[in-house]
Amino acid sequence: MSLKPLDAFRHLDLNSVKELPDSYAWSTADGCPSSCSSEPVPVINLEDLNAIKHVGHACKTWGVFQLINHGIPTDLLNNMEASGRKLFSLPIQQKLKAARSPDGLSGYGVARISSFFPKLMWSEGFTIIGSPHEHAEKLWPQDYKKEMNKLANRLMWLILGSLGITRGDINWAGPGGELKEASPALQLNSYPACPDPDRAMGLGAHTDSTLLTILHQNNTSGLQVHREGFGWITVKPIAGALVVNVGDLLHILSNGLYTSVLHRAIVNQTQHRFSIAYLYGPPSNVRISPLSKLTDNVHPPLYRSVTWSEYLGTKAKHFNKALSFVRLCA
Ligand code: SIN
Ligand code: FE2
Repeated sequence: MSLKPLDAFRHLDLNSVKELPDSYAWSTADGCPSSCSSEPVPVINLEDLNAIKHVGHACKTWGVFQLINHGIPTDLLNNMEASGRKLFSLPIQQKLKAARSPDGLSGYGVARISSFFPKLMWSEGFTIIGSPHEHAEKLWPQDYKKEMNKLANRLMWLILGSLGITRGDINWAGPGGELKEASPALQLNSYPACPDPDRAMGLGAHTDSTLLTILHQNNTSGLQVHREGFGWITVKPIAGALVVNVGDLLHILSNGLYTSVLHRAIVNQTQHRFSIAYLYGPPSNVRISPLSKLTDNVHPPLYRSVTWSEYLGTKAKHFNKALSFVRLCA
């Protein structure tokens, strides 16, 4: 495959760059990690009998929490991370064989949100959607998918339960209470050590278009979430913990009671950081709208109904303003 000059530049092997190219230099206002608040993101123990209360509070005030005692075996997380490391350490030409097509979702490449930012991001990613193709087969162990799906289901019911929602209120729940999901999607992110981290950005600020995102980060800081009144807050890695984000579709489903969290990833000078995001959403034919139990004359529905794929289309056009484009006029 021959690359156009811009593409070639976009596929710069970040592992071997010694000086930050101008195209990767963000303004300090956007990238400066030192202005962060140290307020800790809530940590929730899934085995805690009061987990439902804590989850509700975290989703309302933060839109994100760290989860411990989640039941995903440590070995499975470690294996996924090791496979991810191996994949990203392949020579760039080999990774490009699995390059994402311009309109495709799966494959290797720069972050899909790159086009919304004037500068390039110090990261590379691998997106695996639905059934994996050859390259990804080993990275998408059935066990990981099964375990993550089970956890996402459990979390969804906990979150919905915290809003007073029961099984009969969700029309995409199966007879056993299982929430059917769309094609499972995994996003592997790699952030090589950066020669000038204060001027670089690993992943620009965004909200996820999912119901929930469950993220495994290795023990290198980088993920930051934005909280009104506090600014950017680092989600400090806790060994074995998973980070759970409220996505835009849960924001809609909860009629805005639970907030999709704005987050970004910063980079550092010495350590190579990895993260693996499990993107959880509803089946493609399901229309997501504010749950009727959460709306009344005083609290009218704030959003119109959308399918996940319709919403992705809106997001692709309007990015972080997408929620306001599906908002109903008051
Ligand atoms: C993401 O938002 O997809 C990843 C964030 C991270 O790498 O921590
Ligand atoms: Fe994200």
